[in-house]
Amino acid sequence: MRDAQLPAARSRRRRTAGLVAVATAVAGLATAFVVAAPPSRSAPGPVAEAGTSGKAGTAAHSGTSAGAGLAATPWMRRAGAPLTVIAHRGASSAAPENTLVSDEVARRGGAVWIENDVQPSKDGVPYILHDTTVDRTTDGTGPVRSLTSAQLNALDAGSWFAPAYAGTRVPTLAAQLADLRTRGGKLLLEIKGRHSHAEVARIVRDVREQGMADRVFVQSFDVPSLRYTHELAPELPLGLLRSTLDADPVALAKELDLAAYNVSDAALSTRPGIIGDLHAAGVAVNVWTVDTPARWKALSALGVDGVITNRPTELGGWSAGQTR
Ligand code: G3P
Ligand code: CA
Repeated sequence: MRDAQLPAARSRRRRTAGLVAVATAVAGLATAFVVAAPPSRSAPGPVAEAGTSGKAGTAAHSGTSAGAGLAATPWMRRAGAPLTVIAHRGASSAAPENTLVSDEVARRGGAVWIENDVQPSKDGVPYILHDTTVDRTTDGTGPVRSLTSAQLNALDAGSWFAPAYAGTRVPTLAAQLADLRTRGGKLLLEIKGRHSHAEVARIVRDVREQGMADRVFVQSFDVPSLRYTHELAPELPLGLLRSTLDADPVALAKELDLAAYNVSDAALSTRPGIIGDLHAAGVAVNVWTVDTPARWKALSALGVDGVITNRPTELGGWSAGQTR
C-alpha cells in the first residue's frame, strides 16, 4: 500500500517536461533565500507546543469523536485549530523528495512539520532516503545500505525529478537537522525499515548533537526501532506507523508509550472510531498520505490531528480557508 502511493516513475517522467518551468522557478526561490528564515503559517497545536517535548501538556481536543475526560497531550488538535500540516518527504509534489530543497519549498510554502525517512549507509551514517535502493531518486544504483557515505555524497538526487534540480544531494540526517535548526521547522523522522539498536543509537546521537531533540518526532513501522528509541531517548515523542489497523490500537499505544498513532487513510477508513478511542487515551492521530481536499475535509471532520501530504502548501491554504 505504501509503495502504491508513491509517485510512479513513469508518470513522473511524463510530468517532468511540464514541471521544468515551475521547478526552475522554485529551485531558484529555494536557493535565493538562504539567509533569512521564512515566516511560517500559524502553528497548530503540536507545533506551538512541540518544545515541551514530552507527552504531557495542556491542550484539549475538540475532535468530534473525543469525549470528556481526555488525557492531556500537546499533540492533539485544539478546538478550532487547523489540521497540522506535515510535508511528506518535504514538498515532494514540487521538488525532489527527501532533499534540502524539498524541505525549503515546504518551509517557504508555510509548512512547519517536515516528514523525512532515514536509513544508514554502509559505513553507518544516517542518510535521508525513502527507498531501500538509490535507483529511483538518484543517478546511482544499489541498496543504500551497500553504499558508503562517500558514494552517497556523490549522487545527484535532483535530476530524476527535473533538470532544474540537477546537483541536489542526498542529505545526511545531520545536515538535515542542521538545516532545520538554522532555517526553521520541525522534523517527523521516520526510521525506515529494520534498524539495530546501534543504528538507532546513531540517529539519537545525531539528533542530540544537532540540538534538535525538542524539534524531532520519531515514527516508524518497525516496533523494535520505536522501543530502542524510547530506551535511548525517552524525551523523543513516538508515533507508530500503520498501513492496517491493529486489533487494539489503544493497548499498543499504551504499551509503546506512543504520542501518536500514524495510520494510512485507507486503513483509518475501515474503522474511524479508533480516533475517539485513541484521543480518549491521550494519543494523537495523524493520517498519511492525503492529497485531496475531499479527504482533508473528511478527516478534519473526523477529528484527526495531522495530515501527512505531498501537497503541504495546498493543504495549508485549504485549512486556513476553513478556519476564516
Ligand atoms: O509518514 C507516513 C509515510 O511516509 C509512510 O509511508 O512509504 O511514504 O514512508 P512511506
Ligand atoms: Ca515516510
